[in-house]
Amino acid sequence: MAIAPTTAFTLGDLAAFDEAHLREVIANVSGAVSPALTGRAFGMCDPQEHSDLSRLAERIEHALAPDSRAAFARSRQQVTGCDDRDAARHSVVEQLFWELVYWKTPVDYERLTSGEKVHLGALDVARVDGAVVLDAGAGAGRITLPLARRACKVYAMDAAPPLLHLLESKCAGADLRNVELIRGLFRRVSLPDDSVDSVIACSAFGMQEARGGERGLDELQRVTRPGGRIVIVWPEDPAWFVRHGFHYTRLAGSLTITFPTLEEAYVVAARFYCHAAIRHLDATHRPEVPFHVLGIKEPRDLCWLTVRK
Ligand SMILES: C[S@@+](CC[C@H](N)C(=O)[O-])C[C@H]1O[C@@H](n2cnc3c(N)ncnc32)[C@H](O)[C@@H]1O
Repeated sequence: MAIAPTTAFTLGDLAAFDEAHLREVIANVSGAVSPALTGRAFGMCDPQEHSDLSRLAERIEHALAPDSRAAFARSRQQVTGCDDRDAARHSVVEQLFWELVYWKTPVDYERLTSGEKVHLGALDVARVDGAVVLDAGAGAGRITLPLARRACKVYAMDAAPPLLHLLESKCAGADLRNVELIRGLFRRVSLPDDSVDSVIACSAFGMQEARGGERGLDELQRVTRPGGRIVIVWPEDPAWFVRHGFHYTRLAGSLTITFPTLEEAYVVAARFYCHAAIRHLDATHRPEVPFHVLGIKEPRDLCWLTVRK
């Protein structure tokens, strides 16, 4: 079986982000990349360095918030050598890996999530039947499409336009006309107070500021009507949600990552998974990978809260 080479991102790939997103992902908040580190990554220790990177550095400097801009510009001047710069480059690209996937190779992300189905019992917990629902961090719509088949109206919000474009064509292909796409951030949702019955965030919202944090949680509560529910599917940090009044539930059953074909499984595994996943495919010749082989929990746990105002 031929395995597609893993696409490695480089610093120049940050050019895929627009100015608003550069300002979000390079910032002094938890979950974002620090402007100082990014400045070191763009430091010039090599006069032959190609000018595309210089132009990108200027774009970034221009896009950043004033305090971040100063730290970025200062660090660019302070690079102590090529090793220092290369280490910073590696770290920036590594930290922005998923953002680069969403913005540069959204179809790869769609292929990954089409195999990693989440437990749809989350829709019952969110009480979505006939409801107005915000899918916060909708991505390419892993949960949006099943949700739209049961809800009256779905607002699918995400920070990454390339994923929203994919989602738009998927909704059109499935003739789902009750999905409205919104580019937005967890901490700034362009919906009025009390405008939705429920919010679902699947593998998206978390405790770090860049992933929502306290401000994002306030915002999700603001748009949810009293008595409505916020459901965080497959949370990375359930204890944080429990500290904020959520209940933690693990839905019954068992889930396995399943791809349409063995070839597709190999392609996705080569791109995103560890060697253990490839070895598992080699051993079983089936297009399936158990979550435990990847060392991650099955996507059937959730945190939920009934909003009281
Ligand atoms: C792991 S993906 C999950 C996408 C989708 N819910 C799913 O289950 O496939 C995380 C998504 O959250 C979005 N996201 C991350 N931080 C965000 C923020 N602060 N505001 C809005 N969306 C955000 C990303 O763009 C990405 O689409």
